[in-house]
Amino acid sequence: MEQQVCESQFILQQKEFYEDAAKYWEKIPATVDGMLGGFGFISQTDIIGSKQFLKSLFQFPGLLPGRNYALDCGAGIGRITGNLLTKYFKTVDLVEQNPKFLEQAKLYLKNSLHRVGQFYSIGLQDFCPEPGKYDVIWCQWVLGHLNNNDLIKFFQNCKQALKSTGLLVVKENVTSSNVVEVDKEDSSITRPHSDLLTIFEKSGFKCIKEERQYHMPDGLYPVYMFAIKPCDN
Ligand SMILES: C[S@@+](CC[C@H](N)C(=O)[O-])C[C@H]1O[C@@H](n2cnc3c(N)ncnc32)[C@H](O)[C@@H]1O
Repeated sequence: MEQQVCESQFILQQKEFYEDAAKYWEKIPATVDGMLGGFGFISQTDIIGSKQFLKSLFQFPGLLPGRNYALDCGAGIGRITGNLLTKYFKTVDLVEQNPKFLEQAKLYLKNSLHRVGQFYSIGLQDFCPEPGKYDVIWCQWVLGHLNNNDLIKFFQNCKQALKSTGLLVVKENVTSSNVVEVDKEDSSITRPHSDLLTIFEKSGFKCIKEERQYHMPDGLYPVYMFAIKPCDN
């Protein structure tokens, strides 16, 4: 209850919530270790888990997502674009609020730049992707930077941006407690698993597959991957 009150206070202080996050990320080095809060060594495990999950979606009965266009949301320096998405999609766009990270992404992605499309330098709360463009929209370790209202609005925008066979993948920490936990240092929240499912539903999505990311170090939040698709497709 106390945590929920906390979150509504954050919603009320919306401008500060986003400004404080931007200030936090300005101080963070544009490296894999910076992107992963000092846990750069988990990157490979994370990418292996994501590859298995993504491959399973290409084989999922009745799904058939295309392989043309993906969008990496909260892309940072392009860790996921470079190690995962450009290996499966012809073109990948990146959206990221911090322009310094996007500049670094151009270097980090130098071997796969021919597969990179647009670099959008904007917060997800203000971003409206092009209608009908994407086969897969990948959101990882960023959605805790959006409050519930903005997250629902963002997902609804994503819904319009997916092709008819398109999917959205969410890979996020979830709380082990059943409440929202607030991190004042980076100005983010971590949601319980059940809150994420409620938000998917409120945004007009249904979850078709979920899996826990295993082999993460002890002491970190559990990490879950969800594949969600518009209810009306
Ligand atoms: C934990 S890092 C993860 C980066 C990347 N997804 C990865 O896994 O390597 C979070 C990223 O989200 C970005 N970010 C924070 N708030 C954001 C917002 N409102 N809109 C878009 N990106 C945001 C940060 O600048 C940072 O690059």
